[in-house]
Amino acid sequence: SMQFPHLDETLEILKTSDNRSILDRYKWETSLRDGMQEAGSKPAFVFPVMDMKHQSSQDHALRERLVKDIGLAAEEWGFFLVKNHTIPRDLIDKMMSYGHNFFSLPKEKKEEAVFNLTVHPGKNPYYQGYGGRFQHLQEKVPWLEHLGELEHPVSGVKNLASILWPESNESASFCEAVKTFSEAIRQLGIQIFELLAEHLKLERDFFSKHFAEDKAYQTNWRFNHYPPCPAPDFVLGLGPHTDPNALTIIVQGDVAGYQLLKNDFWFQVEPVPDTLLVNIGTALQTWTNGRFSSVLHRAVVNEKKARLSILNFLSPAKDTPLEPHPSLIDAEHPRKSDSRDWTHLFQPKLS
Ligand code: SIN
Ligand code: FE2
Repeated sequence: SMQFPHLDETLEILKTSDNRSILDRYKWETSLRDGMQEAGSKPAFVFPVMDMKHQSSQDHALRERLVKDIGLAAEEWGFFLVKNHTIPRDLIDKMMSYGHNFFSLPKEKKEEAVFNLTVHPGKNPYYQGYGGRFQHLQEKVPWLEHLGELEHPVSGVKNLASILWPESNESASFCEAVKTFSEAIRQLGIQIFELLAEHLKLERDFFSKHFAEDKAYQTNWRFNHYPPCPAPDFVLGLGPHTDPNALTIIVQGDVAGYQLLKNDFWFQVEPVPDTLLVNIGTALQTWTNGRFSSVLHRAVVNEKKARLSILNFLSPAKDTPLEPHPSLIDAEHPRKSDSRDWTHLFQPKLS
């Protein structure tokens, strides 16, 4: 429930008293925090960075190399970084500064931007706008605040903007930035989907067709903001979970915090300037009969620095059936899941 004190209040209390028991409500089970120190103390793993400029290369060898690298990363890790992508740098900077500006507003102002939205009748409500949407889904309170929307970008963002900037042009330019950004993310997503389909020798548009202009796809965006935490080993920004959507594209800024689980070990993804994080979600795992894996990941927090990330969730239209491609089912690879539509996956497993 939303009974927990606001994160800003927690931080205030910690500033003015040495009563740290307030942190208890953020304290995670050891099993969920396990590996945090080890992950931090091992030499940082260097994730290969996919060079998206080869995607349109006339040089076949370069393009084929990219297809192979990105495909193997999707199979082995369910994760990769991309550089030389088509999202303009100044657009990313603009979005990041909207995020920074928003989270530095007073709590009361931020809370004006809380929407309640029930996506699936009879199931947990999902929150739109500002807040702690996950607080009722996780065992412990995540050390983060967020701002975002779950609906197609054109619908919700106007509400949000008019609440945040009721009487200024800022509202219109925020809407414009979000729209341009989401469209650029969709284009990048399509490029990635096509490379991944090529790797598996599927029809080129087997995944990307769900994101064609005439489809009711979603490209939901969200800012996650993780304030500095006096006890970073004690809390989690976001508990371990997989993403239910097809692909998640993340701007992680210059503060590390994203970690993924592989061979029982949490790997931290160190920030690489001008790259984006891409992770496979469960819809894509299902379409590929498990060839690509929906990676288990979490966010850790930092003692000194705030961390701001922008997440983009690419999801097919709600009624899209999640059928594995027939060529990926055989005696050695039996069908991994029943046919169903992707909203069945949208029951976040966050802890
Ligand atoms: C998430 O998986 O939703 C959090 C990732 C991040 O904020 O970097
Ligand atoms: Fe996630």
